[in-house]
Amino acid sequence: MRWTRKHLLGLEGVGRDEIVAILDAAAKFREILDRPVKKVPTLRGITIVNLFFEPSTRTRMSFELAEKRLSADTLNFAASTSSVKKGETLRDTARNIEAMMVDMVVMRHPSPGAPHFLTHHLDASIINAGDGPHEHPTQALLDLFTMRERLGDLDGKRVTIVGDILHSRVARSNVWGLTALGAEVTLCGPTTFMPVEIEKMGARVSTDIRESTVDADVVNVLRIQRERQEGGFLPSLREYTNLFGITAERVAGMRPDVVIMHPGPINRGVELMTDVADGDRSVILDQVTNGVAVRMAIIYLLSRVRAAERIEESEILAEVGL
Ligand code: CP
Repeated sequence: MRWTRKHLLGLEGVGRDEIVAILDAAAKFREILDRPVKKVPTLRGITIVNLFFEPSTRTRMSFELAEKRLSADTLNFAASTSSVKKGETLRDTARNIEAMMVDMVVMRHPSPGAPHFLTHHLDASIINAGDGPHEHPTQALLDLFTMRERLGDLDGKRVTIVGDILHSRVARSNVWGLTALGAEVTLCGPTTFMPVEIEKMGARVSTDIRESTVDADVVNVLRIQRERQEGGFLPSLREYTNLFGITAERVAGMRPDVVIMHPGPINRGVELMTDVADGDRSVILDQVTNGVAVRMAIIYLLSRVRAAERIEESEILAEVGL
């Protein structure tokens, strides 16, 4: 298929063919990461800014590395050390950075829709690296890549996502991506962690950890977001762990080949026990490795659309003699 999107803002509405195109491109970039020289000149001359208004370890470093592996020039922006602290608006911050001839913006922001907002004010391509509880498309794509690596075609595969669905951008993007690829998705957690009408996204809902994981091919464990728990969603972390924590005992009741995933960062001993996180069913560090290849693929595909736009623009200008 021909990739035509200039931005990647979420996986809602992104079709199976588009997702497969990203995963197939990522598989090629994944091979490059195993070479002694892990770098290609593909994006020489392209400048990308990583615009982070929230903390991040994996996503920010993975994007930076993906950009460097593609030979792009990279700039890192952290809101906490910027003129945002002096009251500069998001629009002004982004437009000032773009004025330095930036081609692509990778953005994490606590407000849902912030990257969508920027598409109306910038010419650069925008990649959503997590917008509040809304979407985290690149995390979901690296999750899909890792599942496909282990299980092959995801059509008909059973994936259970366990935890704080309500606050999880990872869960939302996973549901959109997994259902587009034909997987059967179950969301498991306390009812206080289930968004209203979440079933409308195409996932089944369960509050029974045993029933929802016994036949699962994949159990994707979400972080309990302590920073977003002011609403009294949980009586206590200990109660959550007793009812939903992924322990070795619970894993023993699952399929012997079950794949255990977590987007990170992990609250060890809360949603996931250390022996499971570091055990032989866990692919958590593979997810991180694959994240670089998946982000290389996304940057590459979006940059081609932008380059084509530029060629079209210059052809039009040449036609009118400018
Ligand atoms: N999975 C994830 O988004 O991790 P970071 O917050 O460390 O980027």
